[in-house]
Amino acid sequence: MKIVIPGGAGQIGHLLARHFHSRGHNVILLSRNPQPAPWRVVPWDGITAGPWIAELEQSDVCINLAGRSVNCRYTPANRRAIFDSRILSTKILGEAIASLQHPPAVWLNASTATIYRHSLDRPMDEATGEFGGNEPGAPDTWNFSIEVAKAWESAFFSSSLLLFRTLARSPCAAP
Ligand SMILES: NC(=O)c1ccc[n+]([C@@H]2O[C@H](COP(=O)([O-])OP(=O)(O)OC[C@H]3O[C@@H](n4cnc5c(N)ncnc54)[C@H](OP(=O)(O)O)[C@@H]3O)[C@@H](O)[C@H]2O)c1
Repeated sequence: MKIVIPGGAGQIGHLLARHFHSRGHNVILLSRNPQPAPWRVVPWDGITAGPWIAELEQSDVCINLAGRSVNCRYTPANRRAIFDSRILSTKILGEAIASLQHPPAVWLNASTATIYRHSLDRPMDEATGEFGGNEPGAPDTWNFSIEVAKAWESAFFSSSLLLFRTLARSPCAAP
């Protein structure tokens, strides 16, 4: 398979790249600062369109992991970078994939469990989890993380690509 991993030079991406590459898959990372690696690493900025878009043509999977590390002080500048690096990279990927002749069959986008409310009463999961943001007395940093997560997923799910593909695969779906 041809597997494109934007933001793949980090912790999770490196593990995935090593795994897929060892099994003979064609792995391509997108990085703002390409470094030599056993797989291809192609430059992008996570914000604007560029030659990197061609790497997604006829790919099988895109796994977007781009995002400024949250392991930092939540200064205004870092908050901006945490937010923008996730939302802008997801938006430009959506536009890029929508422009392809042969887009990847699967697009996975990183998200975060901090989208859920802080719960000690029951587990939170994709099926029954409750979004956070309204807990009384919650620290500002919690609410910031929840807002990032919501905006990140909104950027992903608002891609027209998903609508087109859903409709294309479900002839009975309402227009
Ligand atoms: N690790 C976890 O336990 C965990 C848990 C929940 C969610 N996540 C999410 O999963 C994703 C991957 O996690 P990770 O642990 O592999 O993170 P990571 O090691 O920090 O790697 C993230 C990659 O994002 C890219 N990046 C950083 N700032 C950017 C910016 N301003 N614009 C575009 N790209 C930028 C960097 O690639 P370049 O410098 O090469 O461009 C970096 O290698 C992240 O989005 C993270 O929030 C991770």
